[in-house]
Amino acid sequence: MSLQSSIAEPIADSASNTAHDTASDSSPVNTDINAGAAALARHLANTPDTESIKEFIPGPGIVRLGKFFDPQKLRQGLDDALAIGGWRGEVVKAISLTKIPGDSESQRGNNLRGLYWTRADESYEEVQRESAVAEEDFSEFVEEYKQTYFYEVWKVLCQLGTIGRCRLLLKEPRSTLSWHRDPEPRLHVPVVTNPGSVMVVNSHATHLPADGSVYFTDTRGYHNAYNGGEEPRIHLVATLPLVG
Ligand SMILES: [Fe+2]
Repeated sequence: MSLQSSIAEPIADSASNTAHDTASDSSPVNTDINAGAAALARHLANTPDTESIKEFIPGPGIVRLGKFFDPQKLRQGLDDALAIGGWRGEVVKAISLTKIPGDSESQRGNNLRGLYWTRADESYEEVQRESAVAEEDFSEFVEEYKQTYFYEVWKVLCQLGTIGRCRLLLKEPRSTLSWHRDPEPRLHVPVVTNPGSVMVVNSHATHLPADGSVYFTDTRGYHNAYNGGEEPRIHLVATLPLVG
């Protein structure tokens, strides 16, 4: 397609901030090609920062609460947990560290995933997936995992707030979750990660280093987690049921 013919077609307003562009934007077609060229020149003059992607950058709904754990003990805890029990689930691969007292099924099936909402297609309409999980009932740490470091981790997290399900979640290399929102926020403790593993919360994207930190993620907002690296990403994730 020639430049001349492309001008006649609807194009984005390249001279303005595109943060407010939406699929339903009905503003007139911008045919000011000179303004677009000037904006492009300005952007080309700025070299992107490629170092900060290794760091955590806080944003709306994603913050670091503190560095409470030993990264080496987290790695050892993972090795110990994997020696006790393997990953369960298909879409979400998890190891359940907490359960509903007396209910061994609470570590399986939908309880590995849980209810969420997503906007999955070009209609932009929100739809519900899966079914609700009684988060506040997951009050018991699974006996066989008490010999791992994660028992200490769980007890510390319980001092931060009311904890529901506590799971180790595997994100395989070059994989992504759906773009979705959950009924409740989450605490994340990265155990194994790489710079290509990113969380996106409310359209703010950041890497979460596995340095012993606890991150609050307000997953009541739309979010995603993807692993664009070449090795697995494993986080301990604790739900924060909204009590009361
Ligand atoms: Fe989620």
